[in-house]
Amino acid sequence: MPTNSQADRIDQLIDAHVPGSGLGRDFYMDPSVFLRDMDCIFRRHWHCAGHVSLLEKAGDYFTIDFEQEQVVLTRDTHGEIHAFLNVCRHRGARVCSDKAGNAKYFVCPYHAWTYRLDGSLKGARTMPPGFDTKLHGLKKVHVRVAEGLLFISFADRPLNFDIVADSLRTTCGRYGWDSAKIAHRQTYTFTANWKLAIENYVECYHCAPAHPEYAKTHALEQPLDRIQELNAKMEERTRALGVNVVAGNHWQNSVAGNETIHTFRYALYDGAWSGSENGSPLAPPMGDFTGFDGGVTAIHVGGSSFLVCYADYGMIYRFVPRSWESTEMELIWLVRGDAVEGRDYDLEKLTWLWKVTTEEDKGIIERAAAGVRSHYFKPGPLSPMEYNELRYISWYIEEVRREDRPAGDHHVPNTTNPAAPFGQRERVA
Ligand code: FES
Ligand SMILES: [Fe+2]
Repeated sequence: MPTNSQADRIDQLIDAHVPGSGLGRDFYMDPSVFLRDMDCIFRRHWHCAGHVSLLEKAGDYFTIDFEQEQVVLTRDTHGEIHAFLNVCRHRGARVCSDKAGNAKYFVCPYHAWTYRLDGSLKGARTMPPGFDTKLHGLKKVHVRVAEGLLFISFADRPLNFDIVADSLRTTCGRYGWDSAKIAHRQTYTFTANWKLAIENYVECYHCAPAHPEYAKTHALEQPLDRIQELNAKMEERTRALGVNVVAGNHWQNSVAGNETIHTFRYALYDGAWSGSENGSPLAPPMGDFTGFDGGVTAIHVGGSSFLVCYADYGMIYRFVPRSWESTEMELIWLVRGDAVEGRDYDLEKLTWLWKVTTEEDKGIIERAAAGVRSHYFKPGPLSPMEYNELRYISWYIEEVRREDRPAGDHHVPNTTNPAAPFGQRERVA
């Protein structure tokens, strides 16, 4: 927990941020800023934990990590999905040992307190009369399922998720993500602050120089007028397939207590139909798609979850800060639920583009992290092509300011520095 003087210093840092530029060195290097990030971003917002197919049967479970936290997600015998912290209510040991599996109960390996699939305490050996098992269940984390995606929130009063759920229905829902299956999962670790990793994800100024493979098929890095022309042709093809993807360029921040979401679409180059090495389709079309529109639908939820829909496969990108200088990124490849590996898709071809692109991103993110460590680092102006990064940075600055929020709990340090009232803040939405 930052001290009051540390909190004041972070406030000064936020006030000194120059709108339109990147973030200064301390935002990436100062462990007390990282603690503020955890309070204001990671304990306030919803995060995608994975796909519901990870919990197919009663008793299925898997764990995910966030900084020092580990969450267990389960499906109980009634089909309900639960999420709770993997921290024993006796003396704190990790109750669940494996990353994934199937269980009837979770027995803590330390003193054998036994928990049900919904996290409630079933029994505790030799505890005295009067010990109430009902008061000692594992701490619950909010969980929500939308279009097959599992979202969790650590907040006591989570941000309203309804608008996000609606947007996911008219984007991922059109691609049949609720009945999709996972073709592959892979986690990458970056030696870099989490913001360097996400800022890199949201801008495509770097795509042409850093991602020759991606830039061969994706038109995102083009100047605006060329993008508009390609996008108009893409939307025509989507309509011709009878698919109604509603993404627009919808952006909503969390000022009014709703979860943040950004949805947009962009075209592949003419003749490219999927995110593959040469633009060829990789798998059977998903959901409402009976053919290929050569388009990509992108969705950003909260501060850490990013989704990409091609007609034939989907990508989930989960950014997980582990410390101020270490970040994990999990990539999950989705295909149509009935697709069979070897018959309907070649796993190596399916995963090629995003493996190559992510390896390249790891290189440039860690290179940026190395440079930012310099005491002489000063952020320069951003290019107009970095508009999404600029928006992300503005959003981040708003989120880490100390203010009362209409919903979504986060830690508000107690210092004498007054917070600016809501009305004085610029609203991006
Ligand atoms: S710490 Fe889990 S039973 Fe003691
Ligand atoms: Fe990249």
